[in-house]
Amino acid sequence: MDVYKIRGGKRLSGTIKVNGAKNSAVALIPASILASSPVQIDGLPEISDVWTLKSILEEIGGQVTFKDGTMEIDPSQMTDMPLPNGNVKKLRASYYMMGAMLGRFKHAVIGMPGGCFLGPRPIDQHIKGFEALGATVTNEHGAIYLRADELRGAKIYLDVASVGATINIMLAAVRAKGQTVIENAAKEPEIIDVATLLTNMGAKIKGAGTSVIRIDGVDELHGTRHTIIPDRIEAGTFMIMAAAIGDGIKIDNVIPFHLEALIAKLREMGVEVEEGEESIFIPRAESLRSVDVKTLVYPGFPTDLQQPFSVLMTQAEGASIVTDTVYSARFKHIDELRRMNAEGRVEGQMAVLFGPTPLNAANVKASDLRAGAALVIAGLLAEGETEVRDIYHVERGYSNLTDKLQGLGADIRKETAEPVPGMKFNSRNG
Ligand code: EPU
Repeated sequence: MDVYKIRGGKRLSGTIKVNGAKNSAVALIPASILASSPVQIDGLPEISDVWTLKSILEEIGGQVTFKDGTMEIDPSQMTDMPLPNGNVKKLRASYYMMGAMLGRFKHAVIGMPGGCFLGPRPIDQHIKGFEALGATVTNEHGAIYLRADELRGAKIYLDVASVGATINIMLAAVRAKGQTVIENAAKEPEIIDVATLLTNMGAKIKGAGTSVIRIDGVDELHGTRHTIIPDRIEAGTFMIMAAAIGDGIKIDNVIPFHLEALIAKLREMGVEVEEGEESIFIPRAESLRSVDVKTLVYPGFPTDLQQPFSVLMTQAEGASIVTDTVYSARFKHIDELRRMNAEGRVEGQMAVLFGPTPLNAANVKASDLRAGAALVIAGLLAEGETEVRDIYHVERGYSNLTDKLQGLGADIRKETAEPVPGMKFNSRNG
């Protein structure tokens, strides 16, 4: 069982580089299934979700290599092999295998996706979309069966602006006959990234990044080469860390426009944020004012950053409130922060935090990916040695984290620890 050991209390400085976006990567890789010739994706993060998707593509007959962030996928020999169990259970984004396989083979059998537990995470909007395109979708023995004689374009109104449903419907609709219109589509930058890849493969997509996406189906898609966008959530995590414990940190490979909500909140707290073209510099922040944050769909404040941000709230003067309107139960990190001396409580879908409170080192457990990132920041702030357990969650989304933080002067290392008696571990598929 690997853990991070962090000796905190030391100001960090220097430059840190952001990788390609996890939430794009996990959609771009399945999208390659739709091509008839090889697809090359550059700049992919070396995280466990990407390796798992590589294995999934290989299970269905893909020839895949992955080296130095570049994945080459030859999808020509792929088949509609059922994927009821195994790797698909390890990550939530395996749901993109549904749309991609349905688009290519008109048939798919995929086990229920795994991923972080953040409260209820239904996929009803994905299924509603597939059905509107003419597929029959059934749930048999815990696996989703999708079948269609042919896919026909349709008008689909999403009840919630879901990232996953928007991308999944796009993946199937690019191979449907006629036009599909997705209304109330999600607008996240990762959707534009996937639409760009598909367009370069020959798809006809208009409006990605707005709430109405129009897709004219085509008969065939071909291979292409694509460079992924930078990970705005990894960048945001480093920005929060810089505000909490930095002594001047430059974050490279960022699109500042993707982080406007976070930048605005940091400035409201009294943090200086210097935006470059593809970088952000955060000088040392001397004192922080309390702020309230409500997570919303893009371009609102991202739910994926509320957990790291709540650590910053423990260092701000006064009471701060964070409300998560996207995932009501994404607050498991608060108990762990309390073990580190944070003052706060969870009330329904919000957490109230009081500060400034010096954090103390403790043995804590990552309940999910971004909770883990939050605990790493807390560990960097805390005096003494913090141990963060269940870091496989963190490694699903952050590559080379210890190396990157060591580059800023952090005292963090990864070790293999013995299980603590009585401490329960999460299962691998979260
Ligand atoms: N929802 C439904 N029905 C659906 C789909 C979603 O009710 O069919 C609800 C969800 O329960 C949630 C809201 O709609 O309340 C938004 O969910 P969405 O579908 O947008 O989320 P997702 O596609 O499952 C992606 C990211 C998450 C990120 C959310 C929100 C991937 C693989 N995951 O999830 O990323 O939190 O969008 O931005 O892209 C993370 O990176 O840590 C992470 C969890």
